[in-house]
Amino acid sequence: MQFSIRTLSPEKARTGCLVLGVLGGETMTRAAQAADKIAGGTLRRALAGGDLADKTGATLLLRAVAGLPAERVLLLRLGERGKFDVAAFREAMRGLAAALKGLGAKDATLPVTDLAVGSRGLPWAVRHAVLMLREAFYVFDQLKTLKKPAPPALASVTLAIAGAPVTLQAQASLREATATADGADLARTLGNLPPNLCTPSYLAEEAKKIAKQFKLGIEVLERKDMERLGMGALLAVTAGSRQPPKLIVLRYAGAAKSKKPLVLVGKGITFDTGGISLKPGAEMDEMKFDMSGAGSVLGTIRALAGMRAPVNVIGVVPTCENMPDGAATRPGDIVTTMSGQTVEILNTDAEGRLILCDALTYSEKFDPEAVIDIATLTGACVIALGHVASGLFANDQKLADEILAAGDDAWDRAWQMPLWEDYQEQLRSNFADMANIGGRPGGSITAACYLARFTRKLKWAHLDVAGTAWRSGRDKGSTGRPVPLLVRLALRRAARK
Ligand code: BES
Ligand code: MN
Ligand code: ZN
Repeated sequence: MQFSIRTLSPEKARTGCLVLGVLGGETMTRAAQAADKIAGGTLRRALAGGDLADKTGATLLLRAVAGLPAERVLLLRLGERGKFDVAAFREAMRGLAAALKGLGAKDATLPVTDLAVGSRGLPWAVRHAVLMLREAFYVFDQLKTLKKPAPPALASVTLAIAGAPVTLQAQASLREATATADGADLARTLGNLPPNLCTPSYLAEEAKKIAKQFKLGIEVLERKDMERLGMGALLAVTAGSRQPPKLIVLRYAGAAKSKKPLVLVGKGITFDTGGISLKPGAEMDEMKFDMSGAGSVLGTIRALAGMRAPVNVIGVVPTCENMPDGAATRPGDIVTTMSGQTVEILNTDAEGRLILCDALTYSEKFDPEAVIDIATLTGACVIALGHVASGLFANDQKLADEILAAGDDAWDRAWQMPLWEDYQEQLRSNFADMANIGGRPGGSITAACYLARFTRKLKWAHLDVAGTAWRSGRDKGSTGRPVPLLVRLALRRAARK
């Protein structure tokens, strides 16, 4: 779907579908009023007839309105003026997307000026409208042979700004939004692919493709490299798998060489059976999404490279499978990590932290400005925060605050949890420097505390996306989160300096 932004009076739009906002009752937005004037009150009469439901996101389709060059007019309920907030904006965009999907229109025009929410402004509205429409129109049907007959697809959307020039900032927002959507789509597709296809080698090949397309630096470490580096924890996780492990390093340099990079580390377990500490069968298929952190790192770098953002970002993706096998790691095994610290693996299902700890230690070599890891790390995080907020942990409050603010800006929100030393004692082991599990209480916190033992030299944050990276049930599928948060964070950091 192509997006463009231009100065255009809605009543003059030659378009398959002109979208006009209606606030409460019969109160029309500016664009709707302007169109109604040319149309001799047709819109007002339709509203007076009570045909547009009084629910945000409701739509009413009018065809061939006399006086207007648009083939169709779609009235869209935004809700009371005073109550038009982010939630209402999103509700309205969902309604709009659903209506557009059912139409034959190949292009649509959306007067975006009327969609600005409170203090968030036009660039915000542009970003969010584009991201939400792209998300709504995302399909993953490449593995279905019995496809539903596709309706004529909406190929282009014009964001119309009436009576004012398109600012450079608005143009930049559009470029940012489409690149972010491309990145989120990539993350989604990698997540949705089945674990027999999306293997560690597949992820490495995908990273190479991105590197080639955007001229990025790429390096893929193999098992022998991991052995040479002493990555005993990562090697312990992959021990039961027939798939070779990979450690992908993808570099995007959009800023001066002197600028220290932001390093993003993504958990890339392409399937998590639990290993010898085998998971129960119900919903185990969803453990194909256990590489979502990795997907979000590749997606974020693709987005930043696609928009030529002035940032230096390095993606570090440790990826392997967690399988039971005669050669698999046993509960009770003790391994030496790349940091030199030893770990007693009491539960082989707590594997994410094992691959991450070695990847975090490896990240030190890039002398990063900050390191953020993204991981579907704990079921406990889903219990704590549900499917709304990602769990945030950090050893630096300024970094945490920046991540929270970026999450709010992108509406891809995180919530901070404590990383207090008091929790560390739960990781005590009788036989090694630490255990890899801390018991049931505060499970996502002790997982973060484990990682904190490997990031003492770094400015570091951890995002537990176990509850936000995918949806279960009828709408099962990857969400592409937290690509919007990470992209926004990188850009906000670049603008700050
Ligand atoms: N990938 C899982 C976490 C997970 C579970 C995410 C369910 C989303 C839904 C992770 O590797 C895991 O198995 N964690 C264990 C840790 C426990 C053994 C300490 C968990 O959460 O049960
Ligand atoms: Mn696990
Ligand atoms: Zn896992």
